[in-house]
Amino acid sequence: MLYTDETRRDILSRLSGYRLKHTLGCEKAARMLAQKYGADEDKCAFAMLLHDITKNFSQEEQLNLCEKYGIIPNDVEKEEWKTLHGKTAAAIAKDVYGAPDDVVHAIAYHTTGCAQMNLLDKIVYMADYIEENRTFEGVKTARKLAARSLDQALLYGMNASLRELVQRGKLIQLDTVRARNWLMEQMQEPNG
Ligand SMILES: [Fe+2]
Ligand SMILES: [Fe+2]
Repeated sequence: MLYTDETRRDILSRLSGYRLKHTLGCEKAARMLAQKYGADEDKCAFAMLLHDITKNFSQEEQLNLCEKYGIIPNDVEKEEWKTLHGKTAAAIAKDVYGAPDDVVHAIAYHTTGCAQMNLLDKIVYMADYIEENRTFEGVKTARKLAARSLDQALLYGMNASLRELVQRGKLIQLDTVRARNWLMEQMQEPNG
């Protein structure tokens, strides 16, 4: 068994307010997508339970975790330190909760995406984007796309995120650009 009910309760007890609500919404969305696309449901749900476990941490706490787990922030992460929560959550998932490597990977890349995303990575990214508590403009379109094509939904989400980062004058993680380019290349291939 990947995780027990007790582990699930322990993880949830560390979250509160909107973060708890969002995490439960993500868990539900990930199970739904896993069923639809034939992924391991428990792995998807486990990744979702842990993906934002450090999201509300301060800059100091994030940097302490980076130090502890040997995470070296890149230039963008130094500036936009909140984006470190994927990598610090992944480290805790592995160290504290014994998550397997593919779950750890999906958590680490849930904010940026990456090239060569596998099914688990894609579902975690997308469940985070479309879970039922999300209300941003375009979420309904993203949900419709996700019901039809995971890749199309991902591309839609990544393009929207990139546009938003540009509009807000934010730095862009190279992994997000790589993820989006890779996805477009895949979708152009006849059997991709
Ligand atoms: Fe997150
Ligand atoms: Fe999230």
